[in-house]
Amino acid sequence: MTNFKEIKANTYEDMSNEAATIIFDALKESKQFSLGLATGSTPEGMYDALAKKINEANLDLSELTTFNLDEYVGLDESNDQSYHYFMEKHFFSKLDIPQENVHILDGVAEDLQKEVEDYEALIDEVGIDIQVLGIGRNGHIAFNEPGTDFNSLTHKVQLTDETIEDNSRFFESIEDVPTEAVSMGLQTIMKAKTIILLISGDNKKNARDLFISGEITEDIPVSILHNHDNVILITDSAARGE
Ligand code: GLP
Repeated sequence: MTNFKEIKANTYEDMSNEAATIIFDALKESKQFSLGLATGSTPEGMYDALAKKINEANLDLSELTTFNLDEYVGLDESNDQSYHYFMEKHFFSKLDIPQENVHILDGVAEDLQKEVEDYEALIDEVGIDIQVLGIGRNGHIAFNEPGTDFNSLTHKVQLTDETIEDNSRFFESIEDVPTEAVSMGLQTIMKAKTIILLISGDNKKNARDLFISGEITEDIPVSILHNHDNVILITDSAARGE
């Protein structure tokens, strides 16, 4: 199946600019916009480029809403490994988005079940116009690991050893990496009108191969995107093995 569009960028910087341009153009078109955001090293360059474009154009973000994909369980926003912290550092601190419009799952909520249900309900109410995604080496998106139900909504997840190991590079030791997270589900992600999937680097070549093989299976979480009509895959040459 090839119902997605692939933008074949050259460098990481090119990939980041392609993504930033698509989002910037959409934000220019419509002041009232809902943006789904991802963490990880892959979208960092996109955040830099997008913040720069927005500030140069003096774009009004007063009606922008954002929803992040996921958060570790047990890390609060002051923890420099939390996704709250990441987003503040790489994006929100550079922009003027009303605090009340910024939504990130609370990994230290007392009642995590209520937290995930409320989050899903808010996404249903507001909608997501563009959702940005990175990808794990095993084809996971957000924190939906292989085997996750395609019908999953926002939920608490158990991280795989591979993901814990991959993400341990950001922590002092592997023991510090949380083993659980809260994450939009695969069905939640599919609710977005447009999805931008970023794949960068030679260590993600396998993940790109898994996706473009076209096989649709819960063993490859990203493969659900073949059932979505509006997916833009943006890769750099390393991810394509070129
Ligand atoms: C984490 C995040 C994902 C992200 C993945 C890859 O598992 N939950 O949303 O796509 O890491 O991150 P990186 O871009 O750093 O390789």
